[in-house]
Amino acid sequence: MPLNIIVGAQWGDEGKGHITDRLAHEAAIVARYSGGDNAGHTVTIAEQIFKLHLIPSGIIHPGVVCLIGNGTVVNPAVLLREMDALAARGVDIGPARLKLSGGAHLITPAHIALDRAHERARGKEAIGTTMRGIGPTYTDKARREGLRAELLADPNRLAEVLRHHVAARNEALVGGYGEEPLDGEAAVAEWLDYAARLAPHLVDGPLLIDEALGRGEMVLAEGAQGTLLDIDHGTYPFVTSSSPTAGGALTGLGVGPRMVERVIGVAKAFTTRVGSGPFPTELDGAAAARLRGTGQNPWDEFGTTTGRPRRVGWLDLPILRHARRVNSLSELVLTKLDILSGLAEIPVCVAYEVAGRRVESFPTDLHVLAQCRPIYETLPGWAEDVTWARRPADLPAAARRYVDFVAAGAGAPVSFVSVGPGREQFIELR
Ligand code: IMP
Repeated sequence: MPLNIIVGAQWGDEGKGHITDRLAHEAAIVARYSGGDNAGHTVTIAEQIFKLHLIPSGIIHPGVVCLIGNGTVVNPAVLLREMDALAARGVDIGPARLKLSGGAHLITPAHIALDRAHERARGKEAIGTTMRGIGPTYTDKARREGLRAELLADPNRLAEVLRHHVAARNEALVGGYGEEPLDGEAAVAEWLDYAARLAPHLVDGPLLIDEALGRGEMVLAEGAQGTLLDIDHGTYPFVTSSSPTAGGALTGLGVGPRMVERVIGVAKAFTTRVGSGPFPTELDGAAAARLRGTGQNPWDEFGTTTGRPRRVGWLDLPILRHARRVNSLSELVLTKLDILSGLAEIPVCVAYEVAGRRVESFPTDLHVLAQCRPIYETLPGWAEDVTWARRPADLPAAARRYVDFVAAGAGAPVSFVSVGPGREQFIELR
């Protein structure tokens, strides 16, 4: 049976692709359930680095079927580019392996233009989106004017709907934002090519998953973004437009909660975020540079999708408790523990102080969050390089203590720790 769900426990970029890759060999299907190519997953296998935005990380495992589920938004041009890049490196991306659910929504050039125009118009209030058209696509979905992937199977209808869509969105672009209109006919010509290539990949996603679960196979739901970017449970309005939390996996894939076994929350051993919005434990200067890295390594804290330097800070336990609660986490995976090696002391935020009061839970009101001052407990660091550690006993005592402290403070056991970008750089703790 079960459905196992991987979610980000912070603001995204926690290293979910890494653990998905680790667990994918046990799965029949690995499925993306929300978001689009705003996500970026880096998977390192031997010397090869795979950067994926839309295609589930499971594609690297021969024999695993990868599904892009109903809850996602898909830019067909990006999907095809990613497929071509994988094919060029010998990865099978044929219709038997890579499937696109007909209920997923399509990101059009008009959605991307609107994302850009809207961000520009917000000026200092900008969300800091990835400019991939994510928000406008989910907006059209919610107002029941979206284009679903199933259109790719019907070129005539696709052309008619896309032509109408571009004309309608041009009114907003030109009239509302003073931008240049898009060429609808050029978009139609391109999209008919996309449709011809993608139509063989179309499936009924929920049916595919139901059949696999019925055969007793495991389905792995691969989260994108993170809990604090969830439109309902994140730092609204500085969030994405979808539901990266565990509930989003159920609606996004079309599965009920009775099928779920594990909900695995992935958290970095510190905290990062990209885009705007409050971040209580944020660091600047040399301390930030130390955690961020220089950008020379692919795993340094620079966006996979946008290349932007990520904002960085110490680990925040109220955030992890919030993630445990809204996802019903069965466990945590703690990534990038190796980055903390060499620090004499490691502060961990255990609660906040707001207007002279101690607050243990993560506030849902952004104005309250902006006033939160972290209350830190400082743990001893460790000097040793841990990148070679493979068993719990290989970790220095202080690193073990750090992991135990996080588990106790978050209220969830830590099942895996990662100590480097490599596929084998994992320690299983239970
Ligand atoms: P959007 O999803 O492009 O609309 O961006 C909304 C917010 O979510 C911005 O702050 C983005 O930086 C952030 N965001 C979206 N996707 C990711 C991700 O995969 N990792 C980290 N932040 C993300």
